[in-house]
Amino acid sequence: MNNDIETVEQEIKGFKISNTDELEAFRLKYLSRNGLIPELLSNIGKAPREQRAELGKKLNALKNLAQNKFENAQQKLQSKGTGEIVATDDITLQAPSMPLGSYHPITQSLNEIKSIFLRLGFTIADGPELEDDFHNFTALNFPPEHPARDMQDTFFIRKNVDNPHDDLVLRTHTSPVQIRLMENEKPPIRAIMPGRVYRNESITAKSYCLFHQVEALYVDEHVSLAELKETLIILAKMMYGPDVKYRLRPSFFPFTEPSLEMDVWWGSKDEGQWLEILGAGMVDPNVLKAVNIDPEKYSGYAVGIGVERIALLKYQINDIRLLYDNDLRFLNQFK
Ligand code: PHE
Repeated sequence: MNNDIETVEQEIKGFKISNTDELEAFRLKYLSRNGLIPELLSNIGKAPREQRAELGKKLNALKNLAQNKFENAQQKLQSKGTGEIVATDDITLQAPSMPLGSYHPITQSLNEIKSIFLRLGFTIADGPELEDDFHNFTALNFPPEHPARDMQDTFFIRKNVDNPHDDLVLRTHTSPVQIRLMENEKPPIRAIMPGRVYRNESITAKSYCLFHQVEALYVDEHVSLAELKETLIILAKMMYGPDVKYRLRPSFFPFTEPSLEMDVWWGSKDEGQWLEILGAGMVDPNVLKAVNIDPEKYSGYAVGIGVERIALLKYQINDIRLLYDNDLRFLNQFK
């Protein structure tokens, strides 16, 4: 009987259990009521009296061995399905790697712009992406026949089938949030308004049907063009370093007077081009009047920054469409 026990022990140790069928076969062969171990146990009585104690010990050890092997295998097989991590004897095994995500380059640029303005004492405000004509155009001093209201640029949303005069628009810029802010608060106002904007333009390497802007508005007594200029230069230097090559150009917007645009040099020292990153200007008195702020008492400046343009420059990306493809090979570069 001693020999039997040793043979069975070797068998148990060598038994391979890699699926539930094999697990059941193992149980039937050794542990079930008609299995080998109960059979050996029931034979103890047939052994000579002086050997029984010793045999009992050995058989108990054998039973424990089989029982443990069965339970371990069962646990491993169960946890395989759930992806649960199983304790293993090999503590040198490498832990499974956990892929970490990263912020989208647009989010990174947005965060950077926000943190610069927060340091300059601006607060953050928000407004709807679906706007009415008054906030997106009229209050911003767009004349009724202004080309920006044209189907070319604006996505219209028809609220009322019978009445096109009720049309809403997907906001074409973040400037309507200026209006909402000035309707609700009295100066001094110093806030930025980040968000998505939409334009019905052809999609190219430089323009997309949706993009992000950060609007900045500062309204108080005696706000001057010199302050605006100062703020823009600080912004460019904080974004791109103290040696950034920039220029300010006179421009036109219905809601600012005078108006200007800021370009930053895109490329190397000798080769490259100017890229427009923002529009800005002194808030037009007509805009202040539209929100019942006295233009004799108050003045202000407004800025509209193109976030995608900032990101393109910052990361030397040459096609805006890459920002919207969600291609992991592209996004993985911004960790
Ligand atoms: N709203 C303008 C645009 O989208 C940008 C701008 C904002 C210009 C504020 C001047 C002042 O083109």
